[in-house]
Amino acid sequence: MRNTPIDYQTVKQKIEESGIKNVGTASIRELLKIVSQIEADTGEKFIRMEMGVPGLPPSKIGIEAEIEAHKKGVAAIYPNIEGIPELKTEIVRFLKLFLNIDVSPSGCIPTVGSMLGGFASFMTLGRLYKEKDTTLFIDPGFPVQKQQHRVLGQKYESFDVYNYRGAKLREKLESYLRKGNIVSIIYSNPNNPSWICFTDEELKTIAELADLYNVVVIEDLAYFGMDFRKDYTQPGVAPYQPSVSQYTDNYILLISSSKIFSYAGQRIGMLVVSDKVFNIQSAHLKSHYSTDVFGHALIFGSIYALSSGTSHSPQYGLAAILKAVNEGTYHYREDVIDYAEKASIMKKLFLENGFKIVYDTDIDKPIADGFYFTISYAGYTGELLVEELLYYGISAISLAITGSERLEGVRACVSLVNRKQFPELEQRLIQFHKDHPVNPL
Ligand SMILES: Cc1ncc(COP(=O)(O)O)c(C=O)c1O
Repeated sequence: MRNTPIDYQTVKQKIEESGIKNVGTASIRELLKIVSQIEADTGEKFIRMEMGVPGLPPSKIGIEAEIEAHKKGVAAIYPNIEGIPELKTEIVRFLKLFLNIDVSPSGCIPTVGSMLGGFASFMTLGRLYKEKDTTLFIDPGFPVQKQQHRVLGQKYESFDVYNYRGAKLREKLESYLRKGNIVSIIYSNPNNPSWICFTDEELKTIAELADLYNVVVIEDLAYFGMDFRKDYTQPGVAPYQPSVSQYTDNYILLISSSKIFSYAGQRIGMLVVSDKVFNIQSAHLKSHYSTDVFGHALIFGSIYALSSGTSHSPQYGLAAILKAVNEGTYHYREDVIDYAEKASIMKKLFLENGFKIVYDTDIDKPIADGFYFTISYAGYTGELLVEELLYYGISAISLAITGSERLEGVRACVSLVNRKQFPELEQRLIQFHKDHPVNPL
């Protein structure tokens, strides 16, 4: 029996009842369930850092536009599968103003979250060339995208970028691309879970190799503009959000509205396909689609089969938000920068109590403060640390489920932690540090 901030016996019992042998490897949703049960049983609130959900209210502009659209009766009508023209127009503008790239409206497609944009992309790319049947993940990454590959029965390879930053990235990427089986490369930037951001040099390397080996880069920009070290959110003004799309035409971008506009519940994201990729022709597509043109197969083959387009009202909502962002009347950065301020305070509390930041730099610069950070504690694997922290009322996920080779690490998400909880977090961390003074690995 131990004296821990959350009743030891209850935590132990709930872990056992979950039937999960190793709670450190539980999926995010499984962990969420266990933590919710412990909270209900003990009446104690956790410092909840396991799930990456927005912690801010949804964009008002979007909600009002959705209500207006509903009043006009859009719910009764099937939305255009390619997206409503108003939204496509605003996506084109957004790409020009914040990435400085030109994409035709046909390649700007709303999807049921970025989740579906990714799924449809993997599905269609997997059928593009007979000899290229594998996706390359630059990890750590978002675990569900690998799950999507598994349910599609598609192959993937991956490596942890931790030891391959900067100039080392080229040779590492080429060691995969040389084999000729890679159809696409995927990564998120800023990165979920580590919050590392690729430098311009790294993005250029990825772009050059994509051109050399005829590979499509799927760049997941779920945290667009949220590397707060610079302001990437002034319309039409440099600096622009760093992106591979500035260096190659072989790209697909996934731009989620979930975090930047706190719009996760409406399940709408932007799938952006470059003109070049949209128009790729390949006879192999005909094995699954009625067309040999990639963009057509993606929309009228894959997206049609998966969701038949995206709900009508969120399309109007997102169109209105983007219009305000494009016109400079809504500065979403001012809302989401709250995450960075919280991260800075929380990181300090962890560091003062014996923890270390795992992914700590972008080559020579400290990583930005943002939505996530990664931590470790000497003597603990990430899996054990996830479990041990539960007794201290702190929930996080192990990096092992993200493809990271830093098995000592866990991911902390700042969004759901209320500033009022900081004193409690500090107390719990002080006790954790006191209770774990000896750290032999
Ligand atoms: C890297 C990354 N991609 C995609 C998503 C999902 O986006 P959406 O809610 O638009 O499906 C997330 C959400 O956590 C994410 O972190």
